[in-house]
Order: sequence, then C-alpha cells, then structure tokens
Amino acid sequence: MDFLENEVIYNGEKYCFMNLEVAISYNHFLEYPFLVPVGEENFVLIEYAPDKIMPALKTYQEKGLKSILFKEEHYLALLMKIRVKMQQEFQSYKSSPADKKNKKKLLQDFEKYHPIVFDALVNLGINAATVNMAKSISEQVITITQDNNGLVNMLSSFRTRCQAEYVKSMCVSYLVSLMLDKCPWNSRAIQEKVVLGALLSDATLKRQDFPLLDCRHSDSRFVLSERILQHPVEAAKKLREQGIDAVETMTVIEEHHEMPDGSGYPKKLTARTIAPLSAIHIVARHFVQHILSANSANDEERPMDLDKAFIYIYNTFCEGNFKQACSALFQVLGKDPARSF
Ligand SMILES: [Fe+2]
Repeated sequence: MDFLENEVIYNGEKYCFMNLEVAISYNHFLEYPFLVPVGEENFVLIEYAPDKIMPALKTYQEKGLKSILFKEEHYLALLMKIRVKMQQEFQSYKSSPADKKNKKKLLQDFEKYHPIVFDALVNLGINAATVNMAKSISEQVITITQDNNGLVNMLSSFRTRCQAEYVKSMCVSYLVSLMLDKCPWNSRAIQEKVVLGALLSDATLKRQDFPLLDCRHSDSRFVLSERILQHPVEAAKKLREQGIDAVETMTVIEEHHEMPDGSGYPKKLTARTIAPLSAIHIVARHFVQHILSANSANDEERPMDLDKAFIYIYNTFCEGNFKQACSALFQVLGKDPARSF
C-alpha cells in the first residue's frame, strides 16, 4: 500500500507524512509524538523522548521505512522550523560562497529539500505553508546555480535514490535556472518566478497520475482524463488563490505541457505562440525526462548518453520561441549544435 495516496486520521486527528531522511536530518526539531506505519493502515504512536529519537529513526531506516507521520499542527510547526533553518544556512552560504566545503554541504542539503516540498504538497496541498517553502527552495536553486554547473552529476546522483517526481522537479528547476542565466534579458526576479513555476507545475496531480503523463510524453496519442489535461490551468488557479499572481509564474505553469507542433495541452499552442519563458521550462522538462527515461534501465556505473538527449531536443524543439531555449540548454551543457549535428 502506498500510504502517500491516503489521508491518515488517527484518534480523530489528521496526520502528515514526513520523509524519514528529512526527519533524521532535522531530528533536533522533532519534539512531538509521531506515528510509525506498521502495516496496511496500522500505525503505532511513539512518544517523544530526546535521547531515543535518533536511534529509533535509524532503526526505522534500516528496516526500510520511508516516512513517519506528525499531527498536522506539529507538522506545520516543523515545516516552519525547517524553512527558517534552511534560510539561515543559505544566508551563511551566500556570505562565504568561495568556501568549497561549505558549497559541498549546501548541495547535499539541497538534495533533501525537495522531498520536503513534495511531502508538504501531498500533505497540505497548495497553501501558504507549501508556497512559502517552495519560494525558499526557488531562491536557493538560484543561489546554488549561480556558481555551479553540476547538473549531470545531480542527475546521476539522484536517479536511483529519490522518487521520480522529486528527481524530475528538482533537476528541471535547477536546469531552468542555469538556462535563464544564458538569456540576455534574464534577471534574478524573473528567475525566482520561473523556478517557482517549475517547482509547482504538477502540484495538483496525484502520485498515480505521473506514469500516465510519462505515457503521454512518449506518445502524444495517449488519451488523458480531462482532470489531468487541465492540471496546468488548475495548478495556476490554486497558486492565484494563495496570492501568487506573477505573470511569469502563471505562464510557465499553464504552458508547461504545450509543444511546438501543437500536440501539447491544454491550449494546443505552437512554437510561435508559446511564451519564451515557457519554452525554456518545456525544453528543460523534456531534456530531464529524456535523460531519466533513457537511464532508468541502465546500471549505476554506466555513463549517461547525453548526445541522444541533445539530438532529441534539437529535432523536437528547433523553431519559433524554442530556438533561444535550445541554445541556452546547449550552452549550459557545453555543446555546440553547429558542430554536433
Ligand atoms: Fe504537468
């Protein structure tokens, strides 16, 4: 049973899932009782004990447990503490960005932030707490990408350890930020709005929807339900309800499944009508998706075949407003399309 598909009510109270690795990283904040899943829809309540929390979490991890659960009010308090701590870490990084050790730690920390956003979305939907967390992450994506181009390493590192949606969304937002750096009209304000859109584009989808999206990605004739077809519009609407109304964010969310040949959805736009910012987001999504799909069958040691992904991008997205997006992708990854194809 996938617990993440279901709302958990225990003794009349709603409980929220927290990724176990996140809980271990922030164990000093966990001063509340929590639930441990012990079977299908069965849970055990564990009382907080400061000297026992870490050994207990490690034991759960060794047994293969992925998440524990906190009462919603406690979960919200934890989310707030983690966000404040995250911001402090990034502020201290920004004040000494030349420190290599510091940067390595920052990148490691960054790997665990995405599950926090996704768990928050699954637990709470799009609300003020999840939007604030996503905004913090988008700021940090930009901070990291200012002087780092380790995208390929990140893709390699994540492909076996994290759940697919985390990997995609994190890598896409990271790549979008790097690509925007190659555009002359870029600014930090634009980057923040677009990265936020990249993080939250699929926020209204259910976990079981993602394999269907993958089928549609591979075959544009694959039929999706109206609810899934409209998820770009629905996600933008939910964000507006939370007071996020930046045109750039709304546009990249609403257009993130459009395609240059008009085969996308829901508006069936084309290369000439899809906004340039959306084109960057779309190219980043397709590149990451292509790399992850191509590597899902590979063993961990085998290097990724980037050239095949480049050829796919070049052949699919080479017209209209996508030209600049392709050029930005090729620059980010050190490719010269004129020499490669
Ligand atoms: Fe989507």
